[in-house]
Amino acid sequence: MPTPQPGIFALGTRSHHHLELDLAPGADRAAVVAALGALREPRVTSGAANLVIGFGSSAWTLVAPGEPPAGSGPFTELVGRDGHRAPATQHDVWAWIHGSGTDTVLDCAVAVAGALAGVATVADETPCFVYHDSRDLTGFVDGTANPSPTAAPAVACVPDGRTGAGGSHVLAQRWVHDLTSFSRLRVDDQEAVIGRTKPDSVALPGDTRPSDSHISRAEVHDDQGRERPVYRRSTPFGTVAERGLFFLAFSAERDRFDQMLGSMYGTEGREQRDRLLDFSRPVTGSYYFAPSVEDLVALGANAG
Ligand code: HEM
Repeated sequence: MPTPQPGIFALGTRSHHHLELDLAPGADRAAVVAALGALREPRVTSGAANLVIGFGSSAWTLVAPGEPPAGSGPFTELVGRDGHRAPATQHDVWAWIHGSGTDTVLDCAVAVAGALAGVATVADETPCFVYHDSRDLTGFVDGTANPSPTAAPAVACVPDGRTGAGGSHVLAQRWVHDLTSFSRLRVDDQEAVIGRTKPDSVALPGDTRPSDSHISRAEVHDDQGRERPVYRRSTPFGTVAERGLFFLAFSAERDRFDQMLGSMYGTEGREQRDRLLDFSRPVTGSYYFAPSVEDLVALGANAG
């Protein structure tokens, strides 16, 4: 398989920063590709941070004409049961910078925005951090059911032989929590919302786990009953006034996300939705494609 962008799988970094950019109207391919070329290591990160780049489907079609990866397309608004919504705020380019310190990560984010300044503007940004032992701000460990480091690339990346092999479909959503309401629940009720115990993240046994718990809704299967996993790299963000989770996940197939969100929101005749939606709501939503290293390098080689 071509090489996935290594930052997707780099673990142990506590400072994260997400930039979402819009290309200038009528942006010219050669100028965009030249600006992207300036993002190459080590000029931007000096090796002090990981940089992962993804493209919205129309931006990827501009810079890499030809067959797009199967299932590519923009995020569209979802309206689920009880009026719960997932808004679409699709942007063109997404940059995820993560490293061990906020200082180097911010330097890199500024350098990325600067390198792209001639062709794109920053439309949204979310500085994030790892909270204690990888907990979400609800206090629950996030990432427990993630595939192991050896299994993660097969879960996250388009397999060999397909268009975009070694690249990943990405879902990026900023969720804002209602922690006041969540913290009013007794701990056993909070555990019923998530489907896992709070101190040690043990899955509640099937007979006591509510079918509207988050993990019951988020675990989805194909027609043969095989699980359709994704690889999650979400991190919290926030201030005293507003806190939440930047949900970030990678998948070999785009429609795993659609199936998960459909199950969480109770769309298409499903009789239930995720109870987590009573305590958190997404305020942004985009799909990106994070191409393989070889496909990124080929952009420059094919420029002109
Ligand atoms: C406010 C937003 C969210 C929060 C706070 C949250 C939190 C959590 C927590 C605490 C777990 C249990 C521990 C673990 O396995 O990681 C979990 C599991 C999971 N979440 Fe989320 N999550 C959120 C949104 C989403 C979204 C939008 C998706 C998919 C589109 C998703 C997919 C999953 C999956 C696949 C699992 C593993 C389920 C299993 O056990 O197989 N989550 N999440």
